[in-house]
Amino acid sequence: FRFRRRARRRRPLSRRPRRHLTHATPTTMVLSVLLSAAIAQNLPLPPLPYDYTSLEPHIDEATMRIHHMNHHQTYTDKLNGALAKLRADPEQKWLAKLGVDALLRRLDDISDEGIRKTVRNAGGGYVNHDVFFHSMSPTGGGTLEGDGLAGELVRTYGSVTRFKQAFTLAALEVFGSGWAWLVYDVREKGLRITSTSNQDTPAMQEGMVPLLALDVWEHAYYIKHQSRRKDYIEAFWEVVNWLEASKRLEAAVQLEDKPEL
Ligand SMILES: [Fe+2]
Repeated sequence: FRFRRRARRRRPLSRRPRRHLTHATPTTMVLSVLLSAAIAQNLPLPPLPYDYTSLEPHIDEATMRIHHMNHHQTYTDKLNGALAKLRADPEQKWLAKLGVDALLRRLDDISDEGIRKTVRNAGGGYVNHDVFFHSMSPTGGGTLEGDGLAGELVRTYGSVTRFKQAFTLAALEVFGSGWAWLVYDVREKGLRITSTSNQDTPAMQEGMVPLLALDVWEHAYYIKHQSRRKDYIEAFWEVVNWLEASKRLEAAVQLEDKPEL
């Protein structure tokens, strides 16, 4: 018991002199392993699939840098904070083991209102921005033709041009901060244009698979376009990643026969 009391009185690791951490004694080695395990449970900031300058001149470097390094990082950090709180609760830790998408579909199971709100906002921001950054590419834009996604868009909207017009309108009509989406509805087996407010995401609904995301929060375009959201949407079409959306559609179609959806 004496040993345990002494151990409790030790200063927190962050306040101990640095020399304790630089010598590889058995104790520090164990601590190091434990810390590594704790850090490993944290979700990383998803890497940007291209350089910050790569979408110039359509999407500017400053916007990309701040959007990814500040905004996406903040959503990541806040989500990790909420997940740590869930892990610390014996009755709630099972929720932290779900994937983020699955957790966003189980918000009602989170008993603490503050944690629930953080998971909804930061968890939504975490997944939304990853889809969004992959919805653009330095080799994007251009004309979409052929079967696959192009065929589905033509079947649903009459032409790719009409789809772009409908998507643009949906993005313009988002009031305040939010998102425009092209999703594949697994149950209805079809494409759908939708929008969400704040950081809500189609992934909150089972069977909704995002194919394209457009962030219409002002932080996504204000530096270059100020309040001209329409100009930003036109810039998005210059870099839209049709290839990624096509791959997501292929994967979504494969989900149709899975009973859990
Ligand atoms: Fe954003």
